[in-house]
Amino acid sequence: MKKYFGIALAISIAILAGCNEESAQAKQQTKTTSAQATVAEQPAPSKSLVVFYSQTGSTKKVADVFQKARNADIFEIKTATPYPSTYDSTVAAVRVQRESKQWPALVNAKADLAKYDTVYLGYPIMFGSFAPPIYSFLDSNDLSGKVVVPFCTYGSGGRKASANELKTLEPGANVTLAYGISNKRINAEGADSIVAAEVETFFANLAEGKTEEMLMGGYSEQRPLTAEDSAVFAAATKDYGYLSLRPLSVSTQVVAGTNFLFTCEMKAFGGPATQTNVKIFRPLPGRGEPELIVVEK
Ligand SMILES: Cc1cc2nc3c(=O)[nH]c(=O)nc-3n(C[C@H](O)[C@H](O)[C@H](O)COP(=O)(O)O)c2cc1C
Repeated sequence: MKKYFGIALAISIAILAGCNEESAQAKQQTKTTSAQATVAEQPAPSKSLVVFYSQTGSTKKVADVFQKARNADIFEIKTATPYPSTYDSTVAAVRVQRESKQWPALVNAKADLAKYDTVYLGYPIMFGSFAPPIYSFLDSNDLSGKVVVPFCTYGSGGRKASANELKTLEPGANVTLAYGISNKRINAEGADSIVAAEVETFFANLAEGKTEEMLMGGYSEQRPLTAEDSAVFAAATKDYGYLSLRPLSVSTQVVAGTNFLFTCEMKAFGGPATQTNVKIFRPLPGRGEPELIVVEK
């Protein structure tokens, strides 16, 4: 009896041991499979980085759209001393920085750019080009060999001028077309979906290798203004009195709505007269009012 009990005990222990071994193996297998799954599920590390500076939050909104659209990493440039809180005193501070070329110290001057091949560089336009913290960033980082996609927000314009300055300052980088949007449009109600769609179109244009000239395709010849053109111009520029714009001629491009390109005389802030192009978009009937897209030299 004792012997049988002993044998039965031995068998039970062996079975139990076997079970344990099996379950240990099963556990090990599960662990390995889930570890493999975790590795497989992890998205590949992003090869693109959104770098931006934003004083009052408008450029940050665009940076967030770019970051989501490209699944990019993000790096916000921060100045050691923030600009003053009012517009006029910021203008004064930026004027001093530009005149002395003393660019502001940054909290995070250096970004680890080695692992990225594309940098989306965002900034507000200040005095016709990028905000001073961008100069500080460019001084501390090497963008050569990278694709650099500029984007900006502005009161009236500066997209092309700032992208051109970037090309001059970073000759080793492949600076692409730039995206730009006015602070009025980015902060308007319902802007999120409009901006996301616009940014998608921008990426499609980039992917197709479109140039500024190609984007201008489909415009008619410049012609004298009709009463309708004048009404569109007046409606879209009513908040831009400080530019003293006088439309001289216009051309149009039919999209889902109409783009108007007015050649204008401008006396910004009462300064000397210069010639400029003002782009205005008029949506399809019943879809909203004409809006100023950009003022460009
Ligand atoms: C000092 C200063 C200078 C500016 N200069 C220009 C300019 O030359 N042209 C323009 O269109 N907007 C200009 N702006 C308007 C800003 O570009 C615009 O408000 C921008 O959307 C701010 O972006 P943020 O909210 O990301 O800081 C200027 C704003 C400031 C504060």
